[in-house]
Amino acid sequence: MNAISSLDSESLLIEGGTRLEGAVRISGSKNASLPILIASLLTSERCTLKEVPDLLDTKTMRELLESLGATLNIAGKLWEIDPSGVNSFQTPEEPVRKMRASVLAMGPLLARFKKALVAMPGGCSIGVRGIDQHLKVFQLSGANINISHGYISLEAKILKPVEYTFEVITVTGTENALMLLSACEGQSVLKNVALEPEVIDLAKVLCSMGAEIYFEGRTALIKGSEYLRGFDHTLIPDRIEAGTLAVASHLTGGDVLLLGANPEHMHAVLEKLAECGAKISILKDAIRISSEGITKPLEIATEEYPGFPTDMQAQFTTLCSIAPGDSKITENIFENRFQHVAELQRMGADIQVRSRTAYIKGKRALTGAEVYSTDLRASASLVLAGLIAKGTTIVRDIYHLDRGYEALEVKLSSLGARIARLRYSNQSGAFSL
Ligand code: EPU
Repeated sequence: MNAISSLDSESLLIEGGTRLEGAVRISGSKNASLPILIASLLTSERCTLKEVPDLLDTKTMRELLESLGATLNIAGKLWEIDPSGVNSFQTPEEPVRKMRASVLAMGPLLARFKKALVAMPGGCSIGVRGIDQHLKVFQLSGANINISHGYISLEAKILKPVEYTFEVITVTGTENALMLLSACEGQSVLKNVALEPEVIDLAKVLCSMGAEIYFEGRTALIKGSEYLRGFDHTLIPDRIEAGTLAVASHLTGGDVLLLGANPEHMHAVLEKLAECGAKISILKDAIRISSEGITKPLEIATEEYPGFPTDMQAQFTTLCSIAPGDSKITENIFENRFQHVAELQRMGADIQVRSRTAYIKGKRALTGAEVYSTDLRASASLVLAGLIAKGTTIVRDIYHLDRGYEALEVKLSSLGARIARLRYSNQSGAFSL
Protein backbone atom coordinates (compact mmCIF):
# COMPACT_ATOMS: atom_id res chain seq x y z
CA MET A 1 0.00 0.00 0.00
CA ASN A 2 1.08 3.62 -0.57
CA ALA A 3 3.03 5.71 1.87
CA ILE A 4 0.90 7.75 4.24
CA SER A 5 1.35 11.47 4.12
CA SER A 6 -0.81 13.27 6.61
CA LEU A 7 -1.30 12.93 10.34
CA ASP A 8 -4.95 13.15 11.22
CA SER A 9 -7.85 11.07 12.51
CA GLU A 10 -8.46 7.50 11.45
CA SER A 11 -8.48 6.63 7.78
CA LEU A 12 -9.52 3.73 5.61
CA LEU A 13 -7.12 2.11 3.18
CA ILE A 14 -8.72 0.34 0.27
CA GLU A 15 -7.14 -1.72 -2.49
CA GLY A 16 -9.64 -1.57 -5.31
CA GLY A 17 -10.66 -4.26 -7.72
CA THR A 18 -12.18 -7.10 -5.72
CA ARG A 19 -15.64 -8.49 -6.36
CA LEU A 20 -17.90 -8.56 -3.29
CA GLU A 21 -19.55 -11.83 -2.48
CA GLY A 22 -21.30 -13.27 0.57
CA ALA A 23 -23.87 -12.35 3.17
CA VAL A 24 -23.92 -9.39 5.52
CA ARG A 25 -26.32 -8.46 8.32
CA ILE A 26 -27.90 -5.00 8.16
CA SER A 27 -27.78 -3.03 11.42
CA GLY A 28 -30.64 -1.22 13.12
CA SER A 29 -31.51 2.17 11.66
CA LYS A 30 -29.47 5.15 12.86
CA ASN A 31 -32.15 7.68 11.99
CA ALA A 32 -34.85 5.67 13.73
CA SER A 33 -32.72 5.01 16.82
CA LEU A 34 -32.05 8.69 17.61
CA PRO A 35 -35.67 9.96 17.94
CA ILE A 36 -36.80 6.74 19.64
CA LEU A 37 -34.02 6.91 22.24
CA ILE A 38 -34.92 10.50 23.00
CA ALA A 39 -38.65 9.64 23.16
CA SER A 40 -37.78 7.89 26.44
CA LEU A 41 -37.77 11.41 27.97
CA LEU A 42 -41.57 11.42 27.57
CA THR A 43 -42.02 8.85 30.33
CA SER A 44 -40.66 7.99 33.75
CA GLU A 45 -40.93 4.28 33.08
CA ARG A 46 -38.16 1.97 31.88
CA CYS A 47 -37.75 1.73 28.08
CA THR A 48 -36.06 -0.99 26.05
CA LEU A 49 -34.72 -0.61 22.54
CA LYS A 50 -33.29 -3.54 20.56
CA GLU A 51 -30.91 -3.57 17.56
CA VAL A 52 -29.37 -0.21 18.47
CA PRO A 53 -26.36 0.24 16.16
CA ASP A 54 -22.94 0.91 17.63
CA LEU A 55 -22.22 4.34 16.13
CA LEU A 56 -20.72 7.67 17.16
CA ASP A 57 -24.21 9.18 16.90
CA THR A 58 -25.81 6.65 19.26
CA LYS A 59 -22.91 7.21 21.70
CA THR A 60 -23.58 10.94 21.53
CA MET A 61 -27.26 10.28 22.17
CA ARG A 62 -26.30 8.21 25.21
CA GLU A 63 -24.20 11.13 26.54
CA LEU A 64 -27.11 13.48 25.96
CA LEU A 65 -29.60 11.28 27.83
CA GLU A 66 -27.18 10.73 30.71
CA SER A 67 -26.45 14.45 30.95
CA LEU A 68 -30.19 14.99 31.51
CA GLY A 69 -30.29 12.44 34.35
CA ALA A 70 -31.33 9.19 32.59
CA THR A 71 -29.61 5.92 33.52
CA LEU A 72 -28.65 3.60 30.69
CA ASN A 73 -27.81 -0.06 30.75
CA ILE A 74 -26.31 -1.26 27.49
CA ALA A 75 -25.76 -4.92 26.62
CA GLY A 76 -24.56 -5.03 23.04
CA LYS A 77 -27.43 -3.88 20.84
CA LEU A 78 -29.94 -3.96 23.67
CA TRP A 79 -30.36 -0.62 25.41
CA GLU A 80 -32.37 -0.15 28.59
CA ILE A 81 -33.15 3.41 29.54
CA ASP A 82 -34.40 4.40 32.96
CA PRO A 83 -35.63 7.98 32.55
CA SER A 84 -37.09 8.28 36.07
CA GLY A 85 -34.14 10.38 37.22
CA VAL A 86 -34.30 12.93 34.39
CA ASN A 87 -34.06 16.26 36.19
CA SER A 88 -32.73 18.75 33.68
CA PHE A 89 -34.43 20.60 30.84
CA GLN A 90 -31.14 21.92 29.48
CA THR A 91 -28.99 20.03 26.98
CA PRO A 92 -25.26 20.67 27.10
CA GLU A 93 -23.78 22.37 24.02
CA GLU A 94 -21.39 19.56 23.09
CA PRO A 95 -23.88 16.93 21.82
CA VAL A 96 -25.65 19.50 19.65
CA ARG A 97 -22.32 20.51 18.17
CA LYS A 98 -21.46 16.86 17.47
CA MET A 99 -24.89 15.80 16.27
CA ARG A 100 -27.67 17.94 14.82
CA ALA A 101 -30.28 15.35 15.78
CA SER A 102 -29.87 16.61 19.38
CA VAL A 103 -32.55 19.17 18.44
CA LEU A 104 -34.93 16.24 18.88
CA ALA A 105 -34.60 16.83 22.63
CA MET A 106 -36.71 20.00 22.31
CA GLY A 107 -40.11 18.33 21.92
CA PRO A 108 -39.76 15.75 24.73
CA LEU A 109 -38.18 18.23 27.18
CA LEU A 110 -40.89 20.79 26.52
CA ALA A 111 -43.50 18.08 27.08
CA ARG A 112 -41.89 16.88 30.32
CA PHE A 113 -40.87 20.16 31.98
CA LYS A 114 -42.94 22.74 30.06
CA LYS A 115 -39.58 24.25 29.31
CA ALA A 116 -36.43 23.41 27.39
CA LEU A 117 -33.08 25.05 26.83
CA VAL A 118 -31.22 23.61 23.87
CA ALA A 119 -28.16 24.89 22.03
CA MET A 120 -29.09 26.33 18.64
CA PRO A 121 -27.67 24.02 15.96
CA GLY A 122 -25.52 25.77 13.39
CA GLY A 123 -25.74 25.08 9.68
CA CYS A 124 -23.79 22.04 8.65
CA SER A 125 -21.72 21.05 5.69
CA ILE A 126 -24.68 19.78 3.66
CA GLY A 127 -26.82 22.88 4.04
CA VAL A 128 -28.39 25.54 6.27
CA ARG A 129 -30.88 23.09 7.80
CA GLY A 130 -33.38 25.40 9.45
CA ILE A 131 -35.53 24.44 12.42
CA ASP A 132 -38.23 27.09 11.93
CA GLN A 133 -40.85 24.37 11.33
CA HIS A 134 -40.05 22.64 14.64
CA LEU A 135 -40.41 25.98 16.42
CA LYS A 136 -43.71 26.82 14.65
CA VAL A 137 -45.33 23.71 16.16
CA PHE A 138 -43.96 24.44 19.65
CA GLN A 139 -45.24 28.00 19.41
CA LEU A 140 -48.72 26.95 18.29
CA SER A 141 -48.79 24.52 21.19
CA GLY A 142 -48.28 27.39 23.61
CA ALA A 143 -44.50 27.80 23.98
CA ASN A 144 -42.78 31.15 24.14
CA ILE A 145 -39.57 31.01 22.18
CA ASN A 146 -36.50 33.04 22.89
CA ILE A 147 -33.27 32.67 20.97
CA SER A 148 -30.25 34.31 22.53
CA HIS A 149 -26.56 33.62 23.19
CA GLY A 150 -26.73 30.59 20.91
CA TYR A 151 -29.51 28.91 22.87
CA ILE A 152 -33.18 28.30 22.15
CA SER A 153 -35.31 28.68 25.21
CA LEU A 154 -38.85 27.28 25.15
CA GLU A 155 -41.34 27.89 27.93
CA ALA A 156 -45.07 27.17 28.18
CA LYS A 157 -47.69 27.56 30.90
CA ILE A 158 -49.91 24.95 29.33
CA LEU A 159 -49.45 22.90 26.18
CA LYS A 160 -52.38 22.56 23.83
CA PRO A 161 -53.05 20.46 20.73
CA VAL A 162 -52.11 21.93 17.35
CA GLU A 163 -53.40 22.07 13.80
CA TYR A 164 -50.55 22.89 11.44
CA THR A 165 -49.52 22.43 7.83
CA PHE A 166 -45.74 22.13 7.51
CA GLU A 167 -44.33 24.60 4.98
CA VAL A 168 -41.58 22.14 4.08
CA ILE A 169 -41.55 18.40 4.62
CA THR A 170 -39.14 17.82 7.47
CA VAL A 171 -38.14 14.51 9.05
CA THR A 172 -36.91 15.65 12.47
CA GLY A 173 -39.49 18.49 12.45
CA THR A 174 -42.28 15.91 12.09
CA GLU A 175 -40.64 13.75 14.77
CA ASN A 176 -40.32 16.62 17.25
CA ALA A 177 -43.97 17.54 16.67
CA LEU A 178 -45.17 13.93 17.04
CA MET A 179 -43.30 13.56 20.33
CA LEU A 180 -44.61 16.81 21.82
CA LEU A 181 -48.20 16.30 20.67
CA SER A 182 -48.30 12.66 21.79
CA ALA A 183 -47.77 13.97 25.31
CA CYS A 184 -50.30 16.75 24.93
CA GLU A 185 -53.86 15.90 25.97
CA GLY A 186 -56.31 16.33 23.07
CA GLN A 187 -56.37 15.93 19.32
CA SER A 188 -53.82 17.47 16.94
CA VAL A 189 -53.68 17.48 13.16
CA LEU A 190 -50.42 17.85 11.24
CA LYS A 191 -50.47 18.20 7.47
CA ASN A 192 -47.63 17.78 4.99
CA VAL A 193 -45.73 15.50 7.38
CA ALA A 194 -42.67 13.41 6.52
CA LEU A 195 -43.46 9.71 6.01
CA GLU A 196 -39.94 8.28 6.12
CA PRO A 197 -39.91 4.75 7.64
CA GLU A 198 -37.97 6.21 10.58
CA VAL A 199 -40.86 8.62 11.31
CA ILE A 200 -43.33 5.72 11.17
CA ASP A 201 -41.12 3.63 13.49
CA LEU A 202 -41.15 6.49 16.02
CA ALA A 203 -44.94 6.83 15.65
CA LYS A 204 -45.30 3.10 16.44
CA VAL A 205 -43.29 3.59 19.62
CA LEU A 206 -45.38 6.61 20.64
CA CYS A 207 -48.54 4.53 20.11
CA SER A 208 -47.12 1.72 22.26
CA MET A 209 -46.54 4.39 24.94
CA GLY A 210 -50.24 5.34 24.92
CA ALA A 211 -50.68 7.96 22.19
CA GLU A 212 -52.90 7.35 19.17
CA ILE A 213 -51.49 8.36 15.79
CA TYR A 214 -53.21 7.82 12.44
CA PHE A 215 -51.77 8.69 9.04
CA GLU A 216 -53.82 9.43 5.97
CA GLY A 217 -51.55 10.44 3.13
CA ARG A 218 -49.37 13.24 4.47
CA THR A 219 -51.83 14.08 7.26
CA ALA A 220 -51.27 12.81 10.80
CA LEU A 221 -53.98 12.78 13.44
CA ILE A 222 -52.56 12.59 16.95
CA LYS A 223 -54.52 11.89 20.11
CA GLY A 224 -52.16 12.73 22.90
CA SER A 225 -52.08 11.63 26.51
CA GLU A 226 -50.40 13.34 29.45
CA TYR A 227 -49.41 9.96 30.81
CA LEU A 228 -47.16 7.90 28.55
CA ARG A 229 -45.81 4.44 29.43
CA GLY A 230 -42.35 2.97 28.85
CA PHE A 231 -41.71 1.09 25.59
CA ASP A 232 -40.12 -2.13 24.39
CA HIS A 233 -39.25 -1.90 20.71
CA THR A 234 -37.03 -3.42 18.02
CA LEU A 235 -35.63 -0.93 15.51
CA ILE A 236 -36.23 -1.23 11.78
CA PRO A 237 -33.16 -2.13 9.68
CA ASP A 238 -31.08 0.73 8.30
CA ARG A 239 -32.29 1.25 4.72
CA ILE A 240 -29.38 3.57 3.91
CA GLU A 241 -26.75 1.09 5.09
CA ALA A 242 -28.55 -1.61 3.08
CA GLY A 243 -28.68 0.70 0.05
CA THR A 244 -24.98 1.53 0.35
CA LEU A 245 -24.03 -2.16 0.46
CA ALA A 246 -26.40 -2.87 -2.45
CA VAL A 247 -24.56 -0.26 -4.51
CA ALA A 248 -21.24 -1.80 -3.42
CA SER A 249 -22.38 -5.19 -4.73
CA HIS A 250 -23.53 -3.80 -8.10
CA LEU A 251 -20.42 -1.63 -8.51
CA THR A 252 -18.08 -4.55 -8.05
CA GLY A 253 -20.08 -7.00 -10.18
CA GLY A 254 -20.75 -8.85 -6.96
CA ASP A 255 -23.32 -11.14 -5.40
CA VAL A 256 -24.34 -10.03 -1.93
CA LEU A 257 -27.10 -11.07 0.43
CA LEU A 258 -28.35 -8.23 2.65
CA LEU A 259 -29.66 -10.11 5.68
CA GLY A 260 -32.55 -8.45 7.49
CA ALA A 261 -32.93 -5.60 4.95
CA ASN A 262 -36.51 -4.48 4.37
CA PRO A 263 -37.29 -4.07 0.64
CA GLU A 264 -40.54 -2.24 1.52
CA HIS A 265 -38.41 0.72 2.65
CA MET A 266 -36.14 0.65 -0.38
CA HIS A 267 -38.37 0.82 -3.48
CA ALA A 268 -36.81 3.91 -5.06
CA VAL A 269 -33.24 2.69 -4.54
CA LEU A 270 -33.88 -0.88 -5.71
CA GLU A 271 -35.73 0.47 -8.76
CA LYS A 272 -32.70 2.55 -9.78
CA LEU A 273 -30.32 -0.36 -9.23
CA ALA A 274 -32.51 -2.62 -11.37
CA GLU A 275 -32.75 0.08 -14.05
CA CYS A 276 -28.98 0.01 -14.49
CA GLY A 277 -28.65 -3.76 -14.57
CA ALA A 278 -28.52 -5.12 -11.00
CA LYS A 279 -30.37 -8.38 -10.44
CA ILE A 280 -32.50 -8.10 -7.34
CA SER A 281 -34.17 -11.01 -5.58
CA ILE A 282 -36.40 -10.45 -2.61
CA LEU A 283 -36.01 -13.43 -0.30
CA LYS A 284 -37.47 -14.20 3.08
CA ASP A 285 -35.74 -11.72 5.42
CA ALA A 286 -33.01 -10.81 2.89
CA ILE A 287 -32.37 -9.03 -0.39
CA ARG A 288 -29.91 -10.49 -2.88
CA ILE A 289 -28.09 -8.08 -5.19
CA SER A 290 -26.08 -9.70 -7.94
CA SER A 291 -24.51 -8.03 -10.91
CA GLU A 292 -22.72 -8.58 -14.14
CA GLY A 293 -21.90 -4.91 -14.48
CA ILE A 294 -23.66 -1.57 -14.79
CA THR A 295 -25.60 -1.47 -18.03
CA LYS A 296 -27.03 2.07 -18.28
CA PRO A 297 -26.60 5.65 -17.07
CA LEU A 298 -29.24 7.02 -14.69
CA GLU A 299 -31.34 10.09 -14.12
CA ILE A 300 -32.10 10.65 -10.46
CA ALA A 301 -33.80 13.42 -8.47
CA THR A 302 -33.83 13.23 -4.69
CA GLU A 303 -37.19 13.63 -2.99
CA GLU A 304 -38.88 13.04 0.31
CA TYR A 305 -39.89 9.41 0.99
CA PRO A 306 -41.15 7.47 -0.88
CA GLY A 307 -38.98 9.27 -3.46
CA PHE A 308 -35.28 8.66 -3.97
CA PRO A 309 -33.48 9.44 -0.66
CA THR A 310 -30.96 12.27 -0.46
CA ASP A 311 -28.96 9.96 1.86
CA MET A 312 -28.24 7.70 -1.16
CA GLN A 313 -27.38 10.47 -3.61
CA ALA A 314 -23.60 10.46 -3.03
CA GLN A 315 -23.34 6.67 -3.36
CA PHE A 316 -25.18 6.77 -6.71
CA THR A 317 -22.87 9.58 -7.87
CA THR A 318 -20.03 7.07 -7.54
CA LEU A 319 -22.05 4.41 -9.37
CA CYS A 320 -22.87 6.80 -12.23
CA SER A 321 -19.16 7.67 -12.60
CA ILE A 322 -18.54 4.23 -14.05
CA ALA A 323 -21.92 3.67 -15.74
CA PRO A 324 -21.81 3.62 -19.54
CA GLY A 325 -23.11 7.02 -20.73
CA ASP A 326 -24.17 10.36 -19.28
CA SER A 327 -26.06 10.47 -15.99
CA LYS A 328 -27.79 13.34 -14.25
CA ILE A 329 -28.42 13.61 -10.49
CA THR A 330 -30.46 16.44 -8.99
CA GLU A 331 -30.35 17.12 -5.24
CA ASN A 332 -33.64 18.67 -4.14
CA ILE A 333 -33.42 18.32 -0.36
CA PHE A 334 -30.13 19.94 0.71
CA GLU A 335 -28.49 22.84 -1.08
CA ASN A 336 -24.88 21.80 -0.55
CA ARG A 337 -24.72 18.06 -0.77
CA PHE A 338 -22.23 17.61 -3.59
CA GLN A 339 -19.00 17.89 -1.64
CA HIS A 340 -18.02 14.34 -2.57
CA VAL A 341 -17.82 15.47 -6.20
CA ALA A 342 -14.48 17.27 -5.82
CA GLU A 343 -12.99 14.19 -4.15
CA LEU A 344 -14.43 11.83 -6.79
CA GLN A 345 -12.91 14.08 -9.46
CA ARG A 346 -9.52 13.51 -7.83
CA MET A 347 -10.11 9.82 -8.47
CA GLY A 348 -10.78 10.46 -12.15
CA ALA A 349 -14.58 10.91 -12.22
CA ASP A 350 -15.90 13.36 -14.81
CA ILE A 351 -18.61 15.33 -13.00
CA GLN A 352 -19.80 18.91 -13.43
CA VAL A 353 -22.13 20.42 -10.85
CA ARG A 354 -24.38 23.23 -12.02
CA SER A 355 -26.79 24.59 -9.45
CA ARG A 356 -28.43 21.55 -7.84
CA THR A 357 -27.58 19.07 -10.58
CA ALA A 358 -24.52 16.90 -11.14
CA TYR A 359 -23.83 15.97 -14.77
CA ILE A 360 -21.76 12.80 -14.85
CA LYS A 361 -19.93 11.42 -17.85
CA GLY A 362 -19.67 7.76 -17.06
CA LYS A 363 -17.41 4.89 -18.01
CA ARG A 364 -14.40 6.52 -16.33
CA ALA A 365 -11.97 4.13 -14.79
CA LEU A 366 -11.35 5.54 -11.31
CA THR A 367 -7.87 5.59 -9.85
CA GLY A 368 -6.94 5.37 -6.18
CA ALA A 369 -6.13 8.65 -4.43
CA GLU A 370 -5.98 10.23 -0.98
CA VAL A 371 -9.42 11.75 -0.44
CA TYR A 372 -11.22 13.50 2.41
CA SER A 373 -14.59 12.82 3.97
CA THR A 374 -16.75 15.91 4.35
CA ASP A 375 -19.94 14.36 5.67
CA LEU A 376 -21.42 10.96 6.41
CA ARG A 377 -22.82 9.93 3.04
CA ALA A 378 -20.01 11.66 1.11
CA SER A 379 -17.60 9.40 3.03
CA ALA A 380 -19.58 6.34 1.98
CA SER A 381 -19.38 7.39 -1.67
CA LEU A 382 -15.58 7.63 -1.40
CA VAL A 383 -15.33 4.18 0.17
CA LEU A 384 -17.42 2.81 -2.70
CA ALA A 385 -15.15 4.58 -5.20
CA GLY A 386 -12.14 3.03 -3.47
CA LEU A 387 -13.61 -0.46 -3.97
CA ILE A 388 -13.54 -0.07 -7.77
CA ALA A 389 -10.55 2.25 -8.21
CA LYS A 390 -7.28 1.02 -9.62
CA GLY A 391 -4.67 0.91 -6.85
CA THR A 392 -4.87 2.26 -3.33
CA THR A 393 -7.38 4.76 -1.97
CA ILE A 394 -7.00 6.41 1.42
CA VAL A 395 -10.19 7.90 2.81
CA ARG A 396 -9.30 10.42 5.51
CA ASP A 397 -11.37 11.78 8.41
CA ILE A 398 -13.64 8.79 8.66
CA TYR A 399 -15.19 9.92 11.91
CA HIS A 400 -17.95 11.16 9.61
CA LEU A 401 -18.44 7.57 8.46
CA ASP A 402 -18.34 6.25 12.02
CA ARG A 403 -21.22 8.57 12.92
CA GLY A 404 -23.60 6.52 10.82
CA TYR A 405 -22.16 3.20 9.60
CA GLU A 406 -21.54 0.35 12.01
CA ALA A 407 -18.10 -1.15 11.27
CA LEU A 408 -18.47 -0.63 7.53
CA GLU A 409 -14.93 -1.81 6.82
CA VAL A 410 -15.53 -5.03 8.80
CA LYS A 411 -18.70 -5.74 6.82
CA LEU A 412 -17.03 -4.97 3.50
CA SER A 413 -13.97 -7.07 4.24
CA SER A 414 -16.23 -9.99 5.24
CA LEU A 415 -17.53 -9.74 1.65
CA GLY A 416 -14.02 -9.88 0.24
CA ALA A 417 -13.05 -6.21 -0.01
CA ARG A 418 -9.45 -5.35 0.73
CA ILE A 419 -10.01 -2.59 3.24
CA ALA A 420 -8.42 -1.73 6.56
CA ARG A 421 -8.66 0.95 9.20
CA LEU A 422 -5.53 2.93 9.74
CA ARG A 423 -4.95 4.31 13.20
CA TYR A 424 -2.46 7.01 14.01
CA SER A 425 -0.99 6.93 17.48
CA ASN A 426 -0.01 10.36 18.78
CA GLN A 427 2.14 8.71 21.40
CA SER A 428 4.29 6.56 19.17
CA GLY A 429 3.90 8.67 16.07
CA ALA A 430 3.23 5.46 14.19
CA PHE A 431 0.49 4.21 11.92
CA SER A 432 -0.93 0.77 12.36
CA LEU A 433 -3.49 -1.32 10.54
N1 EPU B 1 -36.02 22.54 6.74
C1 EPU B 1 -36.43 23.83 6.95
N2 EPU B 1 -36.98 24.14 8.16
C2 EPU B 1 -37.17 23.23 9.14
C3 EPU B 1 -36.73 21.91 8.92
C4 EPU B 1 -36.17 21.59 7.70
O1 EPU B 1 -36.28 24.69 6.08
O2 EPU B 1 -37.68 23.58 10.22
C5 EPU B 1 -35.42 22.17 5.45
C6 EPU B 1 -33.96 21.72 5.58
O3 EPU B 1 -33.08 22.82 5.57
C7 EPU B 1 -33.80 20.81 4.37
C8 EPU B 1 -35.19 20.18 4.24
O4 EPU B 1 -36.08 21.02 4.96
O5 EPU B 1 -33.51 21.59 3.23
C9 EPU B 1 -35.30 18.77 4.76
O6 EPU B 1 -34.70 18.69 6.05
P1 EPU B 1 -35.19 17.67 7.18
O7 EPU B 1 -35.64 18.49 8.35
O8 EPU B 1 -36.12 16.67 6.63
O9 EPU B 1 -33.81 16.96 7.55
P2 EPU B 1 -33.41 16.51 9.01
O10 EPU B 1 -34.61 16.10 9.73
O11 EPU B 1 -32.51 17.52 9.61
C10 EPU B 1 -33.15 13.96 8.48
C11 EPU B 1 -32.06 12.94 8.58
C12 EPU B 1 -31.01 13.21 7.50
C13 EPU B 1 -31.71 13.13 6.14
C14 EPU B 1 -32.88 14.12 6.10
C15 EPU B 1 -33.68 14.05 4.82
C16 EPU B 1 -32.04 12.36 10.91
C17 EPU B 1 -31.36 12.40 12.22
N3 EPU B 1 -31.45 13.01 9.91
O12 EPU B 1 -32.52 15.22 8.69
O13 EPU B 1 -30.03 12.18 7.60
O14 EPU B 1 -30.80 13.45 5.12
O15 EPU B 1 -33.77 13.88 7.21
O16 EPU B 1 -34.18 12.77 4.63
O17 EPU B 1 -33.07 11.71 10.77
C18 EPU B 1 -27.92 11.22 7.27
O18 EPU B 1 -28.32 10.21 7.88
O19 EPU B 1 -26.83 11.24 6.64
C19 EPU B 1 -28.73 12.44 7.29
C20 EPU B 1 -28.23 13.65 7.00
